Amino acid sequence: FEGITIVELAKRTGQNINYLKQILTNVGEKIDTEFDPITVDVAELIAMEAGVNVRRLHSDEGAVLEPRPAVVTVMGHVDHGKTSLLDALRLTSVAAKEAGGITQHLGAFVVSMPSGASITFLDTPGHAAFSAMRARGAAVTDIVVLVVAADDGVMPQTLEAISHAKTANVPIVVAINKCDKPSANPERVKIQLGSEGLLLEDMGGDVQVVEVSALGRTGLDKLEETLLFQAEMMELKARINGPAHAYVVEARLDRGRGPLATMIMQSGTLVSGQYVVVGAEWGRIRALRDMTGKVIEKAWPAMPVEIEGLRGLPMAGDDVIVVETEERARMLSTGRKEKMERDRLRKAMEEKFEIPDASG
Ligand code: GTP
Ligand code: MG
Repeated sequence: FEGITIVELAKRTGQNINYLKQILTNVGEKIDTEFDPITVDVAELIAMEAGVNVRRLHSDEGAVLEPRPAVVTVMGHVDHGKTSLLDALRLTSVAAKEAGGITQHLGAFVVSMPSGASITFLDTPGHAAFSAMRARGAAVTDIVVLVVAADDGVMPQTLEAISHAKTANVPIVVAINKCDKPSANPERVKIQLGSEGLLLEDMGGDVQVVEVSALGRTGLDKLEETLLFQAEMMELKARINGPAHAYVVEARLDRGRGPLATMIMQSGTLVSGQYVVVGAEWGRIRALRDMTGKVIEKAWPAMPVEIEGLRGLPMAGDDVIVVETEERARMLSTGRKEKMERDRLRKAMEEKFEIPDASG
């Protein structure tokens, strides 16, 4: 048992002690004095509630970090062929064929390469209305595949995708798609991207460009190779043991099964039957499924999984944490809901009683 005090936690997170104590109460923990040790588990929970980057706390120092698959998000303008490209990649993948049917609407799946390495792919919509979804996609990913149609060229959501990737500090691999079309002009696309500030390898930069055709199924090997190479350079690792941390990419209500959340595992091991808090919702994992729909017992970093058993519908982008007891799950969920309601009210008040600027 390794403990930490709330005083120490305040110091390490730069947060106010009373604020942290309030959260401690919300998660159902009691301490007599500020110098009583709390478990690292609880400390992590509190830090998360306080909006502190937990990686700093759970300094994976000492924890064993192991290589993990890359998470790759496909982004680009509407109709430039993102989904088609993913479909094509899936067919070229040996293991995906072996695994059988893949649930497409979940927007996440795993492709196993002949080399044995695997990549987790996330599909995003290109329609202008889904900007928030793309921002989240960029935030949870290791690499962005920017799909640009060779005939259409750089369009508004191409630029938006570049900006999301840059904000999230995620490397971009460009896939110039639809190269089978007679009107395709990949060179023009490269020049356009270059003038938007993307330093392409052809121009001496380090952004890799691959010319592909999802329909003609050309350039796919090269794309996979490029992604694996990029991932290898990043030396992606994660803590495999210990409590799971994940992010929701999609949530929906199923008539028979209730709320379902698709999530990407970030660290730790998620085990079927555990209590989880997902955003402001909570539940006990009744069933854990991989992206082929198979019921599994455990999930590890970079795996997309679907959980069943939540009491309410979470939101895409919500984080997933594991808690020890039902009581704590309930409390955390209630605490978060109350906070959301307070924030909502405060915002509504501010809007209603907006005080005119006195300076002018
Ligand atoms: P959103 O998800 O709506 O943003 O679209 P998307 O980027 O996923 O595009 P999608 O894969 O749905 O493809 C759009 C259209 O382009 C479809 O009609 C595809 O058949 C076509 N298409 C996709 N890839 C290619 C390609 O390589 N060559 C040609 N000729 N057509 C393609
Ligand atoms: Mg699509």
